[in-house]
Amino acid sequence: RPGAERWVPPDADVAALRAAVPDCRGCELWRDATQAVFSSGSPDAAVMLVGEQPGDREDREGEPFVGPAGRVLDEALAAAGIPRADAYLTNAVKHFRFELRGKRRIHEKPAVGHLVACRPWLSAELGAVHPSVVVGLGATAARSLLGSPARIGDLRGRVLPPPDGVPAPIVLTQHPSAILRVRDDADRAAAFDALVADLAVAAEVAE
Ligand code: URA
Ligand code: SF4
Repeated sequence: RPGAERWVPPDADVAALRAAVPDCRGCELWRDATQAVFSSGSPDAAVMLVGEQPGDREDREGEPFVGPAGRVLDEALAAAGIPRADAYLTNAVKHFRFELRGKRRIHEKPAVGHLVACRPWLSAELGAVHPSVVVGLGATAARSLLGSPARIGDLRGRVLPPPDGVPAPIVLTQHPSAILRVRDDADRAAAFDALVADLAVAAEVAE
């Protein structure tokens, strides 16, 4: 019986969920990761942002979005007028999936099975926070929220009706780590501006 369901306390608030997640054995990712990484930010937030999974830094520090992608996200949130502390930040998958190459831990995308296994945590967070809008950062978050594959390029920056099991409209946008991979300075600046514009759409829904 794979999946996080049996480790997720019913009707729990964010603090109780956070306390329960280290025990989760809903998939195998807990084995190699340092620790589960739950959410940060306000449990009363109007805007909930969903990333993919913790990265190397997040895995070590136990906090979401504290690495390079988090820095991009911070800047974009500020530019969109969303104070980071007023938002709720979490990930579709709570343990870091990586491939070991020598001593280096190389990020590996979570498989659909990991998204499905970890989804009960996200569902519980949606129920506890009850945000006015949910932002999906990148294709993995979008897949978890929608329950089906989505092309970010086609759907980004629009207010989409609440999918099954999500109590609020959603806005999809690019993952901040994708912006870090854009080599050309002008293209990277344009990609950042597009992220800010999408976040501003979400901010407007939340008002
Ligand atoms: N990327 C994510 O999707 N989430 C994090 O917490 C860090 C990097
Ligand atoms: Fe549980 Fe999610 Fe971690 Fe898998 S990734 S063990 S489902 S918390």
